This record gives sequence, C-alpha cells and structure tokens, in this order.
Amino acid sequence: MIIKPMIRNEICLNSHPKGCAQSVLNQINYVRTAFKQNGALAHAENSFPRLVLVLGSSTGYGLASRITAAFGYGAATVGVSFEKAGTASKPGTPGWYNNLAFGTEAAAAGLIAKTLDGDAYSESLKAQAVEAIRSVGAQAGIPPKVDLIIYSLASPVRTEPKSGVMYRSVIKPIGETYSGKTINTVSGEIIEKSVLPATEEEIAATVKVMGGEDWELWIDSLDAAGVLSQNVKTVAYTYIGPELSWAIYKNGSIGRAKADLERAAAAINAKLTGSLKKRQTFAWVSVNKAVVTRASAVIPIIPLYISCLFKVMKGKGLHEGCVEQTVRLFRDRLYSQEALGDGGKVLVDSDGRIRLDDWEMQEDVQQEVTERMEKITKDNLLELCDVEGFKHDFLEVHGFDVSGIDYEAEIDPSRI
Ligand SMILES: NC(=O)c1ccc[n+]([C@@H]2O[C@H](COP(=O)([O-])OP(=O)(O)OC[C@H]3O[C@@H](n4cnc5c(N)ncnc54)[C@H](O)[C@@H]3O)[C@@H](O)[C@H]2O)c1
Repeated sequence: MIIKPMIRNEICLNSHPKGCAQSVLNQINYVRTAFKQNGALAHAENSFPRLVLVLGSSTGYGLASRITAAFGYGAATVGVSFEKAGTASKPGTPGWYNNLAFGTEAAAAGLIAKTLDGDAYSESLKAQAVEAIRSVGAQAGIPPKVDLIIYSLASPVRTEPKSGVMYRSVIKPIGETYSGKTINTVSGEIIEKSVLPATEEEIAATVKVMGGEDWELWIDSLDAAGVLSQNVKTVAYTYIGPELSWAIYKNGSIGRAKADLERAAAAINAKLTGSLKKRQTFAWVSVNKAVVTRASAVIPIIPLYISCLFKVMKGKGLHEGCVEQTVRLFRDRLYSQEALGDGGKVLVDSDGRIRLDDWEMQEDVQQEVTERMEKITKDNLLELCDVEGFKHDFLEVHGFDVSGIDYEAEIDPSRI
C-alpha cells in the first residue's frame, strides 16, 4: 500500500515503516559520529554502562537513550514499550517500526538487544524484564545486572497492578481555566485553546500515571531479583519550561506528577543506599528540553512555544532534538570524567536535578522567545516561528517527511 499521513485533532493516526526505520538510522549515525569525534570511549571504559534497561524505549527520549547506550557505549540493551504491530493491510505504531529498525541495526553491529512489548506498569512485564536481563547478560557474556535504568514512559493510562484500578492522566491547569494559543500541526495556523481546571480526582490520577510510583516499583522489583549492578544509575525524565507554559504544565496536573518523580528519586536514593551500599546518589530526575514527540504535540501552547524556541535556538546554533540531548546526558553528565572520577560528581542544579534544558533556559534564548511570543499574529507567524521545523519534526516522528524515502512507493506495512 501507499501510506500518506492521516492527521486528526493534532494526532497522527498512522506511520510509515521505511521513514521510521530511516529516522532510527539517522539517530544511530548521529551517535556514532558524536562519540567518534569526542573520543568519549577513550576514558574509563570499565565504568561505562554495559547492560541498560530503557522503559519507554520505542520513541522520543527513550529511543534516543537506548540508541546512545548501544551505539555510543556498546551496551547490551533491554527495551520496554507498548506498541501496535503493523499488518499487511494496516500500518503499526511508529514505535513498532522503530523497535524493528533498532533490532536490525543492533544485530548488524553485533550488539545484544531484547525488546519487550507490553504494559510496563504490570507485574508480569517487570518479571519478564528480569528474565530478559538475565538472558541478555548471558548472551553478551557479562554479569546479568543492569548498570543503568532509563525511565521514559509517557502514557495516558495506568492500571495499578495491586488494585486493578485504571487511572487516566490529564494535561489540565489547576485552580482556573487556561486559555492560550497553540498551533495546528496540519495547517500551521494559530488557534486559541481553553482547558478547564483539573478536578482533585484527575490530579491524583495523573500523579498515579505519570508520577514516580511505578519507577519505584521497577527499582524494587529489579533489586529484589538481584539484577542491579553495584554501579547502577537510574534517570527519569521531566520538563519544566518557561513561565508562559507553567499554568498548563509545571503548575498543572502533569506538573504535580513530575513533582512526584522528584519525591521518588529521593526515595529510591534513600532505599538503595542501604541495599547496594552506594556512596553516591544514583537516581536522578533529568530536566530535558522541549522537543516534538508524540506526547508533547498534544499539550496546548507547547507546539507554538516549540516553534518559536526552534527558530531562536537554530538561529543561535543551539538547536537539539532527543538524540542530541541524550548524547549530552550520557557523555557530559552520567558518564563524564567528573562523574566517573573519585568524587563521582554528576553535574546537577541546586535541587539535585540534571539540567539538559540548560541551553533552552539560557537567558538570551528565553528573552528572545518571550519577545517573539508576545508579538505573534497569523501574519508574522512564519517569520517569528519555525513552523516548518515543527511540522517536519511532527511528521518525522511518524516516519513521514524523512529525506530519502519514496512516499509514492507501494510498501508492505507488516515489515520495515
Ligand atoms: N517531549 C518533550 O518535549 C519532553 C521534554 C522533557 C521531558 N519529557 C519527558 O520524557 C519522557 C518521555 O516522553 P517522550 O516525549 O519521549 O514520549 P513518547 O510518547 O515519544 O514515548 C513514550 C514511550 O512510552 C512507551 N509507553 C507508553 N505507555 C506504556 C506502557 N503502558 N507500557 C510500556 N511502554 C509504554 C511508549 O511505547 C514509548 O516508548 C516523559 O516523561 C516526558 O514527560 C518530554
């Protein structure tokens, strides 16, 4: 079949297998080049991650993390994601094609990798992951213990394993209605959106889904199964963003969940310090930059802000996507010379968070973005914002608009 993007209400309903595969390859090539150029592999090889578990490994930040671990450090990886397979008559989700492409490239490079497709919030998937860590360790000829766990799940729902209750997360303000501009991902037009405040029940449910409880459960079950290495590190991703987005993000229902991630990081540090006799912190929340992913495209104001941010950051030569961010996370934070040295210091802010949004939040960047955002009208939108860049990234996340792909060609959506 010939596959063209089907977009409804800012959501792309289909994906292109070949475009997804090429986009994974592009990220792999970026990582290979980045590590070759910077000679990162030259120092302290023994302290680098050898077996890495990525939760939410099929798209966005999780996929970029897995690619960085595997192709930057040669790590064996276990990836967990929840995707839908393509069939001969219907395309699957982008992450399903990404997983296939990652697996193919990893095998070609002699890297051991296993991907589990299922509900990461469930107890059975956690048990499967322990088995996968053991089998991947055996295949790679290394101890069956994980050195790094990346927590990068972004989900609208979570069924709590003990109670069986299904919780639904919402992206809503707290206290009062939020009205703001956003951008239509298809037409590129500015539209006004209003979002009613979340109820107490919705806030609590959002914390259940996107907060830190499940991250803690993962660490507990891996610890109980004895598959955490002495040097284990774990990172969960968050976003803070500029003040103009706080009403809907940082101070909204999702912000409450993200605050709970920070509580969980402290709890994990306190818990594991005893069992693994660690001297240092090893659970962090990393504040990442705003990028276009399947999750971020549906948050009001964020697409318009991202379009404006891209224009400013590209102009200053500071632009980054997921994989550029994860390369910096691994190379300059988690496995930097300082982090691997005697003091074991990972660069963090005064609240103990890793800041990969440092360039986004730079004063000159934010000042220019704010000035532009205040001036935006439909007539100057294209001049003030990188609408094309936003649209391209949105399509690319689904395997469309990827350079070198023939979108007129007949393809079989059951494979890449
Ligand atoms: N996109 C941004 O701009 C941005 C910025 C900063 C931080 N973050 C954070 O990064 C994290 C990842 O977000 P993203 O934007 O990369 O999202 P994404 O939608 O691209 O990826 C989500 C991943 O979670 C997996 N997943 C969802 N539900 C699952 C389930 N029940 N079981 C197993 N896997 C499941 C998906 O398969 C996918 O691999 C989130 O915590 C997000 O808040 C995102």
